[in-house]
Amino acid sequence: MDYASHHVLMVVTICLLFISPSPTHACAVANAPIKLVKDVCGQTANYTFCVEALESHPKTVSALDLVAITKIALELSIANATSSHAYINDQLKSNDTEPAKRPCLKACVSLYNAVVASFKSALLEVTEDKDYETSNYDVAIAGDDANNCEQSLASAGFQDRSITTRNNFVKSFSNIGYVLTNLLYSASTPPPSS
Ligand SMILES: *[C@@H]1O[C@H](CO)[C@@H](O)[C@H](O)[C@H]1NC(C)=O
Ligand SMILES: *[C@@H]1O[C@H](CO)[C@@H](O)[C@H](O)[C@H]1NC(C)=O
Ligand SMILES: *[C@@H]1O[C@H](CO)[C@@H](O)[C@H](O)[C@H]1NC(C)=O
Repeated sequence: MDYASHHVLMVVTICLLFISPSPTHACAVANAPIKLVKDVCGQTANYTFCVEALESHPKTVSALDLVAITKIALELSIANATSSHAYINDQLKSNDTEPAKRPCLKACVSLYNAVVASFKSALLEVTEDKDYETSNYDVAIAGDDANNCEQSLASAGFQDRSITTRNNFVKSFSNIGYVLTNLLYSASTPPPSS
């Protein structure tokens, strides 16, 4: 087959793919973020961060309800904070780290232990206990602990962009979890009778 007819065949194949009526067609799924993700992320502090983070999880395209999205968001939060905990712990253990910075890093490592624990508690409260109020409280605490790590370094005069970035990840994930658990809580609470 010469190049031209090969080319024509390819174009025809692509056109056939696009007019395919099948609802399971890949293009329909890979399109824009699904409506639920858009709705939720529209209520967070950073829409782009939220959509990009949730879409990085393969299960998001098939997540049908708020509980499923919340589970995904908290799993991402736990994985992200666990990796940051390891990163800061490595810096603490490194021989290249200046001694004056160690107490701050030590504080951050222990704060990140708490961050991971808070996200894990929140996940259990959503999936097992259906206690959305307590999970809402726990995800908020995770954001506070990231702030405390930032403060610990700042008050000793240290600026560490790699840690600041990770603290901002925690704060953004905390905000997403806060919005989601708040929505779950509202949906589970009957409106006040008038
Ligand atoms: C929002 O999130 C995006 C993607 O992570 C980031 O590039 C941007 O700087 C964030 N905006 C603000 C105001 O934090
Ligand atoms: C943490 O989350 C941010 C924002 O979604 C992402 O850019 C980064 O790659 C994540 N890191 C890990 C280790 O998951
Ligand atoms: C750090 O220093 C200690 C003591 O000098 C040494 O035993 C250790 O191998 C060093 N570690 C690294 C990663 O260089």
